[in-house]
This record gives sequence, structure tokens and C-alpha cells, in this order.
Amino acid sequence: MKKYKVGVIGATGMVGQRFVTLISEHPWFELKVVAASSRSAGKTYEEAVAGRWAMQKPIPECAKKLVMKCAETDIAEIAGEVDFVFSAVDMKKDEIKALEEAYAKAECPVVSNNSAHRWTPDVPMVVPEINPEHIEVIASQRARLGTKRGFIAVKSNCSLQSYVPALHPLKDEFGLNRALVCTYQAISGAGKTFETFPDIVDNVIPYIGGEEEKSEREPLKLWGKVENGEIVTAEKPSITAQCFRVACSDGHMAAVFASFDKKPTKEEIIDRWAKFSGVPQELGLPSAPKQFIHYFEEDNRPQTKLDRMIENGMAVSVGRLREDSQYDYKFVCLSHNTLRGAAGGAVLLAELLCAKGYMD
Ligand SMILES: NC(=O)c1ccc[n+]([C@@H]2O[C@H](COP(=O)([O-])OP(=O)(O)OC[C@H]3O[C@@H](n4cnc5c(N)ncnc54)[C@H](OP(=O)(O)O)[C@@H]3O)[C@@H](O)[C@H]2O)c1
Repeated sequence: MKKYKVGVIGATGMVGQRFVTLISEHPWFELKVVAASSRSAGKTYEEAVAGRWAMQKPIPECAKKLVMKCAETDIAEIAGEVDFVFSAVDMKKDEIKALEEAYAKAECPVVSNNSAHRWTPDVPMVVPEINPEHIEVIASQRARLGTKRGFIAVKSNCSLQSYVPALHPLKDEFGLNRALVCTYQAISGAGKTFETFPDIVDNVIPYIGGEEEKSEREPLKLWGKVENGEIVTAEKPSITAQCFRVACSDGHMAAVFASFDKKPTKEEIIDRWAKFSGVPQELGLPSAPKQFIHYFEEDNRPQTKLDRMIENGMAVSVGRLREDSQYDYKFVCLSHNTLRGAAGGAVLLAELLCAKGYMD
């Protein structure tokens, strides 16, 4: 496999730091460019993240001395130096839309962690185990943008990366018709640590702006179909969500209730979870977990602190499956929000795009 030259825009932030860390250890990717706001431009990466490095691993050696570029003004230069960029900038939504499109139009593909383009109909929003075929719409996106190689692909919101994988292998076979989810989301999802977010200590905050809408709507795009070069969203199942911020550093948990047209047995559900494997596993993509869903029999698992790092934070853990008095079943899901839910999920998507020839 050839090595791809990669840039990260928004490299100094919480998700950007994850990207830099993952790329530094990646067998296919080589970190060439780090960029962020004009506040960071001109500093070395080490200087730019001084006092706010939030990863457990130290700043990678390959990144330390790279001189930061300005993500907004150095687009042509960056596009000339890399095969594609990961985007993790925190700006206004319309600014992110315009910025990512400017990279695509400069013939630099963008794999984005941001929500700005998630509802652009010809931008694929992909969880590689669930809807890898949606990358087909890139051909019509390129035609719209007038590009040969440039395009934007996005990953979905971190809140749903635990329960959508658990519902997916049951959805068609048993006719999933409705689901209720309550999420318990870590503070790194807000780009925060306990030092920068003291209000969360000993606390639960029952509101995360925009999160409930994303948790309810985005699964329907993931489960949508490609028609005439666009994604047409699914109409079912109906999902209702409440999203809470809780005092955990990393790891989003979800309490899930689900009903089906044809109620499966508990054994059938556990069997479908055990067998769930997708294109990333078939292709042996470097970041793909070997076993996507890990089911726990123990009553007190999964636990955020114990289980978020299963398979390098790329697997989903599920437990407490039991029948419910109002829905057919209830269970608990967990995924690492900045790995599977953010940078790791985007790296896996980039691997899929490389394997399918979109980055050549
Ligand atoms: N944290 C998560 O788990 C998570 C999950 C899913 C999605 N997201 C989304 O991912 C994005 C990044 O999140 P985060 O938590 O990493 O945020 P963050 O820690 O606040 O980092 C924001 C990054 O954006 C850069 N930036 C800000 N203004 C900019 C500008 N005008 N031009 C270029 N770069 C600019 C910052 O650069 P400077 O250092 O130079 O200011 C920094 O690198 C957000 O849109 C967030 O909603 C986060």
C-alpha cells in the first residue's frame, strides 16, 4: 500500500489532536501538514498545543516541529502538499461548509468530523460497517463541484455511534420500527477536560445543543439509499432521544429501547451482534475492529471507564439486553466518542476511501 500524505485542519483541538496521534501511528498515512486558526499559524505544533495537549500519549515526534499553517488562508499551499485532509475545525457552520468546499475545489479531498455537510445530499455520511456504498455519490458531488479528485465525505455524530451499530443488524430482518435512546455523553465530546470544564464535576447537565436532533435524524441518512447521485433518507424507524452530558472524560453511553415488527428472541439478537461484520472487516482496513460489537453477559457492563478502549476504541460494547414492558427490548451501548465517534471513525472512512481508489 502506498503512503498517503495527509493534513489535519483544526489540528490543535481535541479531535485534531486525536487525528494527529492516530496518523502518527498509521501504516498508510504520513502527517505532512497541520493547520488551524491564524492564532496558531507560524508556531510549531508543539508550541501551538502547549498547555492544552489532552491526549494520554505524548505529542508525536513527527508532529512536534511541523510549522502550523492557517487553515483559511493557506488552502492552495496545503492542497499542493497533501493527498487529502481531515477536518476538525470549530467554526460557524456556514464557514465550515465554505472552507471544506474550498479544499474540495482545490482538488484536495476532505474527510470531515464536522456536522456542516452532513445534510448535503451528495455528501456521503458514512459509518463504514453500515453504509459503505454511500461513497458512490462522490461521483455526482465531483460533477457538481467541477472537480476531478476533490470531494467531501463526513462521518456521523458521535452520540449515535454506539446504538446505530447495535440496531443495524436487527433492522431489516426483524423490522425495527421504533427506538428510544438516552445518551450519557463524555466531556471530551464538547472539546473539554475536567480542568477546562469544572462545572461538570459532580454534575449531570441535561442538555447538549443540537444533539437530540442529530441523534434522531442522522441514523435515517445512514440507513438511506443512493438514488440519482444523492442519498434519499430512510423514513423508518422512528427514533426519539434525550442527550445528557455526564462527568466522564471519554466514552458515550446510550440506554436503548427498541420495538420490532417481528420480535426476535434474545438469542437471535445476541447472535446477530456476534456475526455483524462489514466491509472494513472484509477488506482488513487497519483501523477496523476485528469484532465490531462486543456483547457482555455481566449485569454491570459495559462500563465507560472499563470498556471504552476495546479494540483501540473502535469497537462498540453492548450489554444488559432484556425484555421491556413497553418496548420489545432494552439494552445499553457504549462507544469511544473521540475514537470511533470522531477521529477514529474518520480515519476508518479515509481508509475505506483509499482502498476504493477515491484518494488516488
Ligand atoms: N470532541 C468530540 O468528541 C467531537 C465529536 C464529533 C464532532 N466534533 C466536532 O469537531 C469539531 C472540532 O471539535 P473539537 O472538540 O476538537 O474542538 P476544539 O478542541 O475547540 O478545537 C477547535 C479547532 O478549530 C480550530 N479553529 C477555530 N477557529 C478556526 C478558524 N477560524 N480557522 C481555522 N481553524 C479554526 C482551532 O484552532 P486554534 O487552536 O488555532 O484556535 C482548533 O484547532 C467541532 O465542530 C465539534 O463540534 C467534536
